[in-house]
Amino acid sequence: MERTRWYKDSVIYQIYPRSFMDSNGDGIGDIRGIISKLDYLKDLGINAVWLSPCYKSPNDDNGYDISDYRDIMDEFGTLDDWKEMVNGMHERGIKLIMDLVVNHTSDEHKWFQESKKSKDNPYRDYYIWRKGKGKNGKRPPNNWTSRFGGRAWEYDETTGEWYLHLFSKKQPDLNWDNPKVRAEVHDMVKYWLDLGVDGFRCDAITYISKVEGLPDGKWNIGIRGDEQFTHGPNIHKYLHALNKEVLSNYDCMTVGEASGVTIEQGLLYTGEDREELDTVFTFEHVNCDTIAQLLPKKFNLVQFKKVFRRWQWGLFGKGWNSLYLENHDQPRSLPRFTGDYGEYRKEAGKMLAIAMHFHQGVPYVYQGQEIGMTNYPFKNLDEYQDVLVAYVRKVLGVFEPLLKGFVHKVFLKRARDHARTPVQWTAGENAGFTTGRPWMPINPNYTEINVEEAMADPDSIYHFYKKLIAYRKGNEIIRNGLYKTNYTSSKDIFCYERWYEGKRLFVICNFKNKEVKFKVPSSCAYSHCNLEISNYKDSPETLQNMTLRPYESMVYLLV
Ligand code: GLC
Ligand code: CA
Repeated sequence: MERTRWYKDSVIYQIYPRSFMDSNGDGIGDIRGIISKLDYLKDLGINAVWLSPCYKSPNDDNGYDISDYRDIMDEFGTLDDWKEMVNGMHERGIKLIMDLVVNHTSDEHKWFQESKKSKDNPYRDYYIWRKGKGKNGKRPPNNWTSRFGGRAWEYDETTGEWYLHLFSKKQPDLNWDNPKVRAEVHDMVKYWLDLGVDGFRCDAITYISKVEGLPDGKWNIGIRGDEQFTHGPNIHKYLHALNKEVLSNYDCMTVGEASGVTIEQGLLYTGEDREELDTVFTFEHVNCDTIAQLLPKKFNLVQFKKVFRRWQWGLFGKGWNSLYLENHDQPRSLPRFTGDYGEYRKEAGKMLAIAMHFHQGVPYVYQGQEIGMTNYPFKNLDEYQDVLVAYVRKVLGVFEPLLKGFVHKVFLKRARDHARTPVQWTAGENAGFTTGRPWMPINPNYTEINVEEAMADPDSIYHFYKKLIAYRKGNEIIRNGLYKTNYTSSKDIFCYERWYEGKRLFVICNFKNKEVKFKVPSSCAYSHCNLEISNYKDSPETLQNMTLRPYESMVYLLV
């Protein structure tokens, strides 16, 4: 099978189905809702959709806990609806990337239901069961913590053993060391590819191989046990086998969610000669405003730029990057990276788009990002719906009342819920998302920030994305150009160049809500200059020393 690596020329739009569009008034987004918006996606110009899980699930973690890999969640519709959706996408030249959640299943999956019945059940070894420590085995087998907080083990009365869950206790980890589990996954991946799927976003994929013997983890303020289950001993073997046996027979693409990935590991996962994954989602850049991945700190632009430089150079000519600022696990990008944007929401949103889209890699646009949706003004801890918040609160236990104000402050900046409020389609009732009662509250700013408004306003963030996406298509400098940075120690300006065959794109982004002086680097020589794109109507036509206005950003083509 000739692999065309179409992802290198793609911009991918992420849909979180629960919050995208509701078609039947039950307040929950669904597949027919997506079908009704396919023309909108086509108009935006994206060439693929990454759809967060739509499989059968009891929704402990909104679909990331799957109870049947081969069927669609009741609330989202039927397999026939799904087929109609894929056809609708393909007719419009849009490919479909499904979420592949195989580090764990739901505890309601029939494999787990069997597995817990007895120690000699044929499905026992599909999961990771161990005896507890201590006289009665009532202490967990090791000290690992779940990624949501608290211990990573749950005791089960039936057989008096513990099972491992790196996420919620309703998400037991699969035992990838069991060849039957790997065969099941291969089979299931093939099932969806044969139904027309064009690729997979591989959830939590760096955790599938655990160190033999499951030794205790090092003490750590974040997650304990990380080094025992991240990029584990067999991970590359397992991914290579999945690639050789299944993926390589299709012209598909994969992107692995790779928390904790370094350049060295990134190359092992995405190196084209290695035949594992095509791309990975890295996390370093979204940790430039956090401590231990959760506690907020001031956004550090210098660190952010450094991370981009390292990854752009690190994978150049060998692998392929992913470019994202938002997804369903991250708060909205506007308040995070552009600070107090005040009346400059549109300029700031467009600036962030420029900052990302001229890098090498696959840009992702998360639903609502294209209209500049913002964080939700949660008032207290009870308003959050995410299982992660519930976990953190449970871990705090009796201390919660003491820390309540602080915990709320943390989540006000960091909660995953911010990205999960419904897409704001219109200024009408429930923002046009549903005719019923939405499962998550709608951001009160929907009367100003909504798709209808954005489409009617030629100057909107939406139209700017559209322009950028179109500009990117077939642009060889963006696809292949070398990466060079300027202003590396500036706290205000992100400035980089892309060089390809005597041509160069020169990108300038003012990340601040203030005027900032820009001086053309002295090494910059060229004979012809053209302003390609800018987020102000009257940015200078040629590259020159200038005072950048708040969030002003532009791209020049130098020849
Ligand atoms: C990934 C998903 C996240 C989910 C977790 C467990 O990180 O993006 O939403 O909670 O995996 O499946
Ligand atoms: Ca619905």
